[in-house]
Amino acid sequence: MTPHERRAALEQIGAEVSACTACRLHEGRTRAVPGEGDPNTEVVFVGEGPGFNEDREGRPFIGRAGGLLERMLGSIGWQREDVFIANVVKCRPPDNRDPEQDEMDACAPFLRRQLEVLDPAVVVTLGRFSMAAFRPGARIGAVHGSTAPVDPASGAGDALTFSMYHPAYALRNPAVERESFEDMAKVPGVLLQSRERRAAAGSAAPTTTMTTAPAAAAPAALAPVAASAIASLSAAEQAADDASQLTLF
Ligand code: URA
Repeated sequence: MTPHERRAALEQIGAEVSACTACRLHEGRTRAVPGEGDPNTEVVFVGEGPGFNEDREGRPFIGRAGGLLERMLGSIGWQREDVFIANVVKCRPPDNRDPEQDEMDACAPFLRRQLEVLDPAVVVTLGRFSMAAFRPGARIGAVHGSTAPVDPASGAGDALTFSMYHPAYALRNPAVERESFEDMAKVPGVLLQSRERRAAAGSAAPTTTMTTAPAAAAPAALAPVAASAIASLSAAEQAADDASQLTLF
């Protein structure tokens, strides 16, 4: 697919999302939030669903949680325009309640089609609902900061998924916020790892020049992982206290 075709395909999906009435969430929406970003990116971030601000503007992660996401991206030298940001459900659940299973099921074809078009090397999940779409049965306190191969049935044909806490949860818990910056610091290394897997499998070469080098502004402790350190990534998680960490996100 050419960059032009990719953009057009994403716009077509976005138009269908905006007109969708497949679940009850359309009844309360101001605007649907299909997602946005670089159609040629190698990295897709997937959140849970739009909140108040997103519903008004039709754009993902533009509230306080989005501000934190942008700061975390900045810590690895990336901007939101470098990636694609989407959600599991594209319309705001009333009062920001958790999305229900039938709502996620109704919306799933949109995310699957977006991933088919984008063919990302890495899918970063934000929060437990997004994680569950790519790592069924996993517990976020145990797997945040680690990778797993993505099931091609998700739409991402050859990708690694990387699990992170939801930024809104991190905003409420300074320890989780700290861990989230540490998790984000691993993402460039995960991208390198996925590029290597894809090259070995004969997948398309990278279409971007996304930096995987340490960002000059990033504190040394948060410097992105060098290729040589990749092997230790999946062993790096600590088992957290799920009971307290899973309550919201
Ligand atoms: N939280 C999400 O999960 N997605 C958004 O787009 C905004 C907040």
